[in-house]
Amino acid sequence: LPMKVIRVKDANEGGKKAFEIIKDGMENGVKILGLATGSTPETLYQEMTSSDLDFSEMTSVNLDEYVGLAGEDVQSYRYFMNDHLFNQKPFKESFVPNGKAADLEAECKRYDGVIAEHPLDLQVLGIGRNGHIGFNEPGTPFDVTTHVVELTESTIEANKRYFDKVEDVPTHALSMGIGSIMQSKKILLMAFGTDKADAIKGMIDGDVTVDLPASVLQNHADVTVIIDEAAASKL
Ligand code: GLP
Repeated sequence: LPMKVIRVKDANEGGKKAFEIIKDGMENGVKILGLATGSTPETLYQEMTSSDLDFSEMTSVNLDEYVGLAGEDVQSYRYFMNDHLFNQKPFKESFVPNGKAADLEAECKRYDGVIAEHPLDLQVLGIGRNGHIGFNEPGTPFDVTTHVVELTESTIEANKRYFDKVEDVPTHALSMGIGSIMQSKKILLMAFGTDKADAIKGMIDGDVTVDLPASVLQNHADVTVIIDEAAASKL
């Protein structure tokens, strides 16, 4: 199934485009947003916080969280979301997996329940350098739901910039599964920079394979991809 590809100059223009798509979605019944962390959606969240849109009737469901980090921890994804979006624009409810849960398997089940009760209308995604979405690393079966993930070296390396030292990067995470992401009515994936060019090429033109998790999006009927020239450079 063809993905709709929108090429932009840079991340700022990408954030504006993504914001328009979300705004348009909200005018057309989108109530439940799936949200992502990382540097990629930052310009989108800037657009959202500086807009006059009201999100207080919206629900958000985040993709993932590091195991072992509490929401107050500045490196946690809960903290990131509060800091970049929810503190300025409160939603009715905002769900993020609990990385401090004593029983991680039970937390995965609980989160699957959250997703079942709040079916995603529009899922925002970034993409890892190895093609991961959420924290679904290469090799993850396409039908999994929320699960505990052991992060790859590549992901730990890429994400260490947020930590004082690489040893501080958690080795595990909780992630919404590819199966749940694929259930979202709409998907909006953004990628900026040359680091993402190989993953974008494989996602759009490559085979659908668990070796490049984002390639599964070729099987989804409503995917929009926003990329800058650098991320598009291998297409
Ligand atoms: C992390 C997140 C992903 C994100 C990816 C890319 O691993 N779990 O959701 O898409 O990194 O991050 P960035 O946008 O900073 O390049």
